[in-house]
Amino acid sequence: MNNMQTVSTLHDDQTGASPLGGSGAQAGGASGKLLPDIWMQDGAKRVEQALARLLCAGDDGETELMAAMRYATLHGGKRTRALVCMAAGALADTPAHMLHDVGAAIEMMHACTLVHDDLPAMDNDVLRRGLPTVHVKFGEATAILVGDALQAHAFLTLASLDARGDTRIALVRELAQAVSAEGAAGGQAMDLSLVGKHVELDRIVAMHRMKTGALVRASVRMGALCAIAEDAAHAALYCALDRYSACFGLALQVVDDILDATADNATLGKTPGKDAAAQKPTCASIMGLQAACQFVRDLLRDAGEAIVPLGPRAERLAQILQRANAYLFKHAPCA
Ligand code: IPE
Ligand code: IPE
Ligand code: MG
Ligand code: MG
Ligand code: MG
Repeated sequence: MNNMQTVSTLHDDQTGASPLGGSGAQAGGASGKLLPDIWMQDGAKRVEQALARLLCAGDDGETELMAAMRYATLHGGKRTRALVCMAAGALADTPAHMLHDVGAAIEMMHACTLVHDDLPAMDNDVLRRGLPTVHVKFGEATAILVGDALQAHAFLTLASLDARGDTRIALVRELAQAVSAEGAAGGQAMDLSLVGKHVELDRIVAMHRMKTGALVRASVRMGALCAIAEDAAHAALYCALDRYSACFGLALQVVDDILDATADNATLGKTPGKDAAAQKPTCASIMGLQAACQFVRDLLRDAGEAIVPLGPRAERLAQILQRANAYLFKHAPCA
């Protein structure tokens, strides 16, 4: 497959038909333009189908470990990282089925970080996505192994893609880097080290960029890398994407911090007020709620500005910012 080759695109399913079962006019059809709610719902569904296919029972039936892996990945979640990957994939004529598998790999890795984040040794949370956390439901040992195995399956998925070897290596490298000591793992270590401390905002921002921003950045880059090599000809594009994801990834964690302090159990699907109870310094606790809301607005605006030079192909990336903005102002008491 060469860099920009069209097999079936984001706007088609694997059979080449409309993903919306023939409602092409409403959806945008051959023009490739889909209403945001429609492509996002369809994209999330396709990624969930890929997750269900990729995390399936072996010949001997489903083990408890696989049941727990499916529990951790298939029950809810906003699918933000997979969607942003698909939105970046729309910058080129990327095969849709490839983006769904890459999105699934990213969601496996994200779920791994959530399962480990909830463990008693970390945030000790009992509720996630409206359900008991994996260690509550399956036990702590299984939860640790779920994280390990999801991580392995994420890499296995990328290594097994129907794509050029250099593309697969680039994707594996990107995801590995995102969860390394310089990425999510390092950020989580920093998060734990700051408990009970009074710190400057820039330390919190640095932590957020690692624990959450790194995987968001990788998700965007991976969507692009499926079809666009990172070479000198595309340096400006990757630079714009990095500016976009730096702002958007940070905004996501600031929103999470705001909602932890303000939203209820049903909205969050998590235990509210955990950050304050655990004495975690957050953007919300340091800046105050209204300043944190303004910070998010500014970050989302900056993310939008970063992708303006990419033109109409970046429309889905912009739509994801609008969705994040709407989500914050629906659920948080932002003036
Ligand atoms: C929760 O992420 C943890 C953070 C890194 C902010 P999301 O808010 O994206 O969680 P899900 O996937 O929708 O459950
Ligand atoms: C977690 O941040 C970030 C990860 C890398 C998993 P939080 O601890 O604030 O996430 P939630 O609130 O439990 O989802
Ligand atoms: Mg945490
Ligand atoms: Mg947590
Ligand atoms: Mg949180």
